[in-house]
Amino acid sequence: MFVAVDENLWAVYDAMGASFVDHAADGAYNAHYDRPAVLAAIGAVEGLDVLDAACGPGFYLQKLVDAGARVRGFDASEEMVRLAKERVGGEVDIRRADLDSTLPYDDESFDLIVCALAIHYSSDRSATFGEFFRLLRPGGRCVVSTGHPASDFARKAGSYFDVVMESDTWNISDTESYEVRFWREPLSSLTAAATDSGFVIRSLIEPRPTESMLERWPEDHAELSRAPAFLVLDLLRLA
Ligand SMILES: C[S@@+](CC[C@H](N)C(=O)[O-])C[C@H]1O[C@@H](n2cnc3c(N)ncnc32)[C@H](O)[C@@H]1O
Repeated sequence: MFVAVDENLWAVYDAMGASFVDHAADGAYNAHYDRPAVLAAIGAVEGLDVLDAACGPGFYLQKLVDAGARVRGFDASEEMVRLAKERVGGEVDIRRADLDSTLPYDDESFDLIVCALAIHYSSDRSATFGEFFRLLRPGGRCVVSTGHPASDFARKAGSYFDVVMESDTWNISDTESYEVRFWREPLSSLTAAATDSGFVIRSLIEPRPTESMLERWPEDHAELSRAPAFLVLDLLRLA
C-alpha cells in the first residue's frame, strides 16, 4: 500500500497512525539515534515546565514525565494526539495545535521546549521559532532536532542553498509505504530562523550512532558514523 498525502504535511501521520508507533518505538533512527542525542542535550528536567512541540505518539512525553517534569504537548495530527494520550494517560495536557499557527499557550509559560524531528514540517520556521521564544521564560531553552541539511542535500537534487519542499518514501512496514514531505533548507537558513527570533545557539550537535545500533543495524551504524543524518540545536532565550 502506498499512501500519497496532498494536504497538510502532518496529515500523513494521521494515515500512519499506530504503524508510526511501531516504526519509531524501537527503530534505529528514532530510538537509537535521535532520542539519545536529544535527551542528552536536554539534561535534567525535574520540576521544569516543559512543552513537547509536535509530540507525535508521546515517546518524549513519557520520558519527560518519568524524569519529573511538568509536561504539556501538542501535535497537529489528531491520531498522534490520541496515541500520545493513550501513552501517558489523562494527567498530561495534550492538544491539537499546529506549528504553523499561534500556539495555544500564554507567554513565558515554559522552561524548556522540545521539538524533535518536526520543525522541517513547519512552512515558516522563523514564525515557529518566534512562537517558541514567546512561550519560553527568560533563561529557558529550546532543543530542536531535524534532518541534517548536508545529508538531506546529499540525498536530493538541486542546490544546497535551495529552500524547497522535498519528499521521501518511508517503507515503514513490509506492506506500508508513505510519501512524507518536508522542507529542506541550508544550515544558515535554519539557524537564522532561530537567531532572528531572539535565540542564542548554546550548541549545535551532530549526533554519533549509539553502540546499541551496532549489533542490530550495523549498516546504519556504519553510515551514521560516516555522516550525520540529523542535527540537534540547543537554543537559549537569554532575556
Ligand atoms: C517524526 S514525528 C516526531 C514525533 C515526536 N516528536 C518524536 O520524535 O517522537 C513528526 C511529528 O510532527 C507532527 N507535525 C507535523 N507537522 C506539524 C505541524 N505543522 N504542527 C504540529 N505538528 C506537526 C506530526 O504529526 C508528527 O507527529
